[in-house]
Amino acid sequence: MDGREQLTSISTDTSAYQRRRDEIAARAATYTRGEAIPAVAYTDAEHAVWRLVAARLRERHSALAAPEFLDAAEQLGVGNEGIPQLQDVADRLDGLTGFRLQPAGGVVPFHRFCGSLADDYFHSTQYIRDGATPFYSVEPDVLHEVIGHGSALADTRFADLYRLAGQAVRRVETDTAIQFIAKVFWFTIECGLIDAADGPRAYGASIVSSYGELDQFRSAEIRPLDIADMAGVDYDITQYQHTLYSARSMAHLEDVAGGFWESCDEASIERLLAAEI
Ligand SMILES: [Fe+2]
Repeated sequence: MDGREQLTSISTDTSAYQRRRDEIAARAATYTRGEAIPAVAYTDAEHAVWRLVAARLRERHSALAAPEFLDAAEQLGVGNEGIPQLQDVADRLDGLTGFRLQPAGGVVPFHRFCGSLADDYFHSTQYIRDGATPFYSVEPDVLHEVIGHGSALADTRFADLYRLAGQAVRRVETDTAIQFIAKVFWFTIECGLIDAADGPRAYGASIVSSYGELDQFRSAEIRPLDIADMAGVDYDITQYQHTLYSARSMAHLEDVAGGFWESCDEASIERLLAAEI
């Protein structure tokens, strides 16, 4: 029995799900930085989605998530028993790496979302995915934010990479440059892999928060981490990825992705794109 079957009785009414999702999302519109993040009174059914998905993710993480990610998740210390309140996660992160969370009503435009990372703020949704499709969420939800990004942000080395991406996107103005920074962000922070003795393992938030994609990612074409190579690769955030990039080590990831974000500007990105053509 897969998760979809187990949760059929919990959530099958898409319109009811959408109303609940929108109700939680709407609260983000009135949030001001510095305020405590309002708690959400999650239902038993919503906690059940977390329990089921979090337990399945943890099972897979032990074999398929990068050791660096596993250490970070342990630092964060979020359990499987139910949806944590964002303020509690934010307090934990603030103490570990100085990152804070800001509630989001859905996908935040990349320039604003990523730029906030330079200020140590991560935009996080609070609603949870529809229990009818627990294996994958096409939009970010609290499982993705907390188990995927929150875990990484609990580690100083990952947190520094997030900050560098934020500083990079603040440095450029052209859509071309912003979109290329978003692509590098996608292939690393969202979908990145690191080589391990038993094969590539995931640290990217999208993969480590999707047990469907955790089961699939080793079937993708996995290339050595290479920023210039990304110029010629398309991606679709609504599908499991057909091309992924694996760093040789955390230090290699820092050199390649961190080094790119630290120094990139419009001219260097234009050169990368021109070389691809
Ligand atoms: Fe994400």
